[in-house]
Amino acid sequence: MEKTLIILKPDAVQRRLVGKIISRFEEKGFQIIGLKMIRISEEMAKKHYAAHEGKDFFEPLVRYTSSAPVIIMALKGKNAIEIVRKMMGATFGSKAEPGTIRGDYALSNRFNLIHGSDSPASAENEIGIFFDKREILEYDPAGIQWIYDMSAGDII
Ligand code: RTP
Ligand code: MG
Repeated sequence: MEKTLIILKPDAVQRRLVGKIISRFEEKGFQIIGLKMIRISEEMAKKHYAAHEGKDFFEPLVRYTSSAPVIIMALKGKNAIEIVRKMMGATFGSKAEPGTIRGDYALSNRFNLIHGSDSPASAENEIGIFFDKREILEYDPAGIQWIYDMSAGDII
C-alpha cells in the first residue's frame, strides 16, 4: 500500500471544485488518511517545489501556490502515486486528456488545480512537509474486501 500527498491548489478552492475532486478519489476506492485546509507560506511553497528552483516558472509557481488557501490531503491505496497522477492528467490543462481532473476542469498551464506526489520518496518528503505525524490517521477501511480481491492473501 502506498501513500501520496495531494494539494487542491488555490484555483480548485476558489472555483469550488474541492468536493468534485475529492469525490473522484473516494469513488475510485482510495482511503483518505489526512485532510486539512491551510494557507501555504512562500517558504513552504519553495520547499515543496524545490526541484524547480532556477526554472523560469519557479517564482510565479511559488506565488500561485501561496496565493490563497488550499486543501492538503493524504491518500492511501495500492499504486496510489501512479494512479493519482493518471487521474490528474498531464501538467498543462491545455494538454490534459478529457476524463482526467485537469482535462475536465483546467485550461491554464499553470493554474492546473491539483498536485500529486510523483515518487515514493517525494510522497514521504511531502507528507512530512505538510502533516504532523498525529494528523495522519491509520484505520481499517470499511469494505476494503470489495475494493481489492484479498481472498488469497495478496491484494489484487
Ligand atoms: P505538480 O508538481 O504540481 O503535481 O505538477 P506536475 O508534476 O504535473 O508538473 P511539474 O513539472 O512538477 O510543475 C509544477 C507546477 O508548476 C506549474 N508550471 N508552470 N511553464 C510553466 O509556466 C509551468 N510549468 C509548470 C504548474 O502549476 C505545475 O503543476
Ligand atoms: Mg511535479
